[in-house]
Amino acid sequence: MAENLIIPDKASKAETYAAVLPQLEALTSGETDLIANLANTTAVLKEAFGFFWVGFYLVKDDTLVLGPFQGPLACTRIRKGKGVCGTAWAEGKTQLVPDVEAFPGHIACSSASKSEIVLPGFNSQGEVALVLDIDSDQLDDFDSTDQQYLEQLMKLIGKWL
Ligand code: SME
Repeated sequence: MAENLIIPDKASKAETYAAVLPQLEALTSGETDLIANLANTTAVLKEAFGFFWVGFYLVKDDTLVLGPFQGPLACTRIRKGKGVCGTAWAEGKTQLVPDVEAFPGHIACSSASKSEIVLPGFNSQGEVALVLDIDSDQLDDFDSTDQQYLEQLMKLIGKWL
């Protein structure tokens, strides 16, 4: 397994995603444990992009439960349909939120969080099995480039579910 992540210097966001995602695929390909792979996924995203908070919530019965993450302490349980994460689960769709204050029912795990993107991950039955949540301490920090590459990442993650 590759243990060093190569992050291009002075690269655009798109170039960084394009460089990092194949490395993540390679480093997780030899490991079958879901939590180990999710944990390394958060480490790679944190190291490559310096996200304020990046992590997973896993579907357990009627609740999302905190999984591997990098960043400050976070809420441990989120109900279906609640907040940005619970909405991504309920709708099965990416939530791109430029201003969390403007999102009805946003759950503020940290008052420093200003914008976020949350993406659902589907298992082979087509059910949402987890969500990836990335938070920024800047307003409007995510765009269609993040959405496009992170949706590609969720397809890889779907193979582990
Ligand atoms: N803000 C999220 C909750 C999770 S944390 O920010 C880590 C939400 O509204 O679902």
